[in-house]
Amino acid sequence: MTTDAVLVLEDVTRTHGSGETAVHALAGVSLRVWSGELVAVMGPSGSGKSTLLNLAGALDRPTSGRVLVEGEDVTALAPDALAALRRRRVGFVFQDLNLIPSLTAAENIALPLELDGLPARKARSFALDALDGLGLRALADRFPDAMSGDSSSGSRSRVA
Ligand SMILES: Nc1ncnc2c1ncn2[C@@H]1O[C@H](COP(=O)(O)OP(=O)(O)OP(=O)(O)O)[C@@H](O)[C@H]1O
Ligand SMILES: [Mg+2]
Repeated sequence: MTTDAVLVLEDVTRTHGSGETAVHALAGVSLRVWSGELVAVMGPSGSGKSTLLNLAGALDRPTSGRVLVEGEDVTALAPDALAALRRRRVGFVFQDLNLIPSLTAAENIALPLELDGLPARKARSFALDALDGLGLRALADRFPDAMSGDSSSGSRSRVA
């Protein structure tokens, strides 16, 4: 049964490109992650870590095999449903963070909630609570450029 795992990869293959230049980034990968589990994916450069994470975060689809996020088969979802799943159920910190430089910390956090239909005031209130939870409330109205660096403990990446 696959229903209790938050993330399931079943015999997943992901090939980038085609023909002679095809790169088989993942070949027959199966993985199961349970609620509360902390998993580190490690391997040399080019071994397929980002390819795996892009599939796990529903940012990409496998060439073959199945990916289930909270029991939902992302390989079968239409683009709109896939976008909703990413907004509501997946948190993803990109290597380059992808904060929007012209928005403050609170606005960056609120933006996906507003895109998901939440009224601006509620989205802002949620963003401030989230910052509070991180001990970063003082940064609410700062722009990414005015926050400390990109290391995993830096304010910018914690906001991301
Ligand atoms: N969009 C793409 N088009 C073609 N090949 C790609 C693409 N993305 C990744 N690859 C190739 O797939 C393989 C796996 O790449 P991936 O980025 O998943 O590795 P990685 O483990 O994240 O590496 P790194 O540690 O350098 O971030 C590599 O050979 C890479 O060149
Ligand atoms: Mg990578």
